[in-house]
Parts: sequence; C-alpha cells; structure tokens
Amino acid sequence: MKIIMLGAPGAGKGTQAKKIAEKYQIPHISTGDIFRANIKGGTELGMKAKAFMDQGQLVPDEITIGMLMDRIKEDDCKNGYVLDGFPRTIPQAESLTKALADLGDKIDYAINVDVPDEAIVTRMSGRRACLKCGATYHIKYNAPKTEGICDTCGEKLVLRDDDKPETVQKRLTVYHEQTQPLIDYYKNEGCLAEVDGTKDLDVVFQDIVAILGE
Ligand code: AP5
Ligand code: MG
Repeated sequence: MKIIMLGAPGAGKGTQAKKIAEKYQIPHISTGDIFRANIKGGTELGMKAKAFMDQGQLVPDEITIGMLMDRIKEDDCKNGYVLDGFPRTIPQAESLTKALADLGDKIDYAINVDVPDEAIVTRMSGRRACLKCGATYHIKYNAPKTEGICDTCGEKLVLRDDDKPETVQKRLTVYHEQTQPLIDYYKNEGCLAEVDGTKDLDVVFQDIVAILGE
C-alpha cells in the first residue's frame, strides 16, 4: 500500500503516519525527519536544508525530489510506504506520479488531515520532537511516559527550531501557496481521502483505518 499524508504543518501527519506504519507494516518516510537527521549529523545536505527550514521555506525541489526518489528505491519499500511531508509542491507530485507510472504503479491513498490554521499555532508550541527516531509528542495531548524523554528510543526530546510562532506562521503561508493545491491534484488522480484532524488523535486514526481497511 502506497500512502501520502497531506495537511498543514502541525496537522498531525507525522503522528498518524507513525501509527499507519506500525499497523500496516510499511516504512514511514518523512522528508522533514530525513533533513533533521542530516542537520544533526552535520552533512552537506543538512547544511543546505537548514538555511531554508529555519526560515519556514521549502527546501528546493532539486534537492528534495532526488533524495526521496532514492529512498523509495530501497528494499524495505517493496510492499509500500507512507510518505509524510512529500510531495509538497506540484513538481514534486508530478515527479512521483511519473516515477511510479514508469513502473506501472500508482499512489493508493492521499490522506488529507484537515486542521484550520487557528488550531495549528497552539499545537506547535506544545510539541516535543525526538530527533533520533522521529517520534512526536505533545505536552498536553500526547505526553511521553517520562517528561522530556522519548518513549521509543530514550533520546531527549526537543522543541524544533522551526516551531517558533513566527516561523509557524510563515510555514502556514508557504503551505497555502505551494502545498494546498495538491488536494485538488490528488482529487483529480482519484485517490484523495479526507479526515477531520481536529478530533482526538486516536479517533483520527480510527477514521484513517476505516478508509484503508483493517
Ligand atoms: P516537516 O517536518 O514535514 O514539517 P511540517 O509539514 O511543517 O509538519 P510538522 O512535522 O510540523 O507537523 P505534522 O503534520 O507532522 O504534525 P505532528 O504529527 O508532529 O518539514 C519541516 C521542514 O522541512 C519544512 O518546513 C521544509 O522546510 C522542509 N521540508 C520537508 N519536506 C519537504 C519537501 N517535500 N519539500 C521541500 N521542503 C521540505 O503533530 C503536531 C503536534 O500536534 C504534535 O505535538 C502532536 O502530538 C499534536 N497532535 C497531533 N494530532 C493531534 C490531535 N488530533 N489532537 C491534538 N494534538 C495533536
Ligand atoms: Mg511531521
């Protein structure tokens, strides 16, 4: 099963993608997590990406598309994957559609997690992230078992550099300009599914399972 998560920054793409990956036994691929791992590791790719991410801007397509295409060619992607944060622009979506079509394949579901802007800024200030395994928590809605520590890998949790309110605002603007058009793109492709992301996170997951099937 090949799944794309669509939605504004902070809509809950990462939270739901992780649950989907566990239930359906497919890899969770987040371009944001790949960039953050590279920043942490001090790689050249990380340096390049950081300059854009800290401004709330998208990393250029030339960098992002090649990186994602290499990732989905890896062995663990044979039975599908859940993409979180890719595609984010029409050229990214077109590259993915074409790469899959060349293999006689296509995306099965593009799930749009819908959350209005007003709810986003509040959510982001309470988010804590694990830069090692990509898990995300919320100090109120999804707290880790031990404060400040990742349940999965024991790493210290951090507030992401781009989660400052002014950067979140910029990311929302960029989302509306460059990423929201993908909703219509995937509607035309015939694989769009929508869920209400303002519900409790377990309820959102149940709604997703109802779409994907048990
Ligand atoms: P990325 O890491 O993808 O960030 P994003 O899209 O801004 O999304 P987030 O990770 O911030 O939010 P999310 O939807 O995953 O929400 P989460 O589940 O954490 O990208 C970061 C940057 O990298 C981009 O700005 C860009 O620069 C670059 N980049 C990445 N991909 C790129 C691409 N393809 N092209 C170009 N540039 C790219 O949830 C948020 C919070 O809410 C958490 O605290 C969570 O616990 C909580 N929460 C979740 N669901 C609920 C719920 N139902 N109720 C209450 N709280 C909830
Ligand atoms: Mg995320």
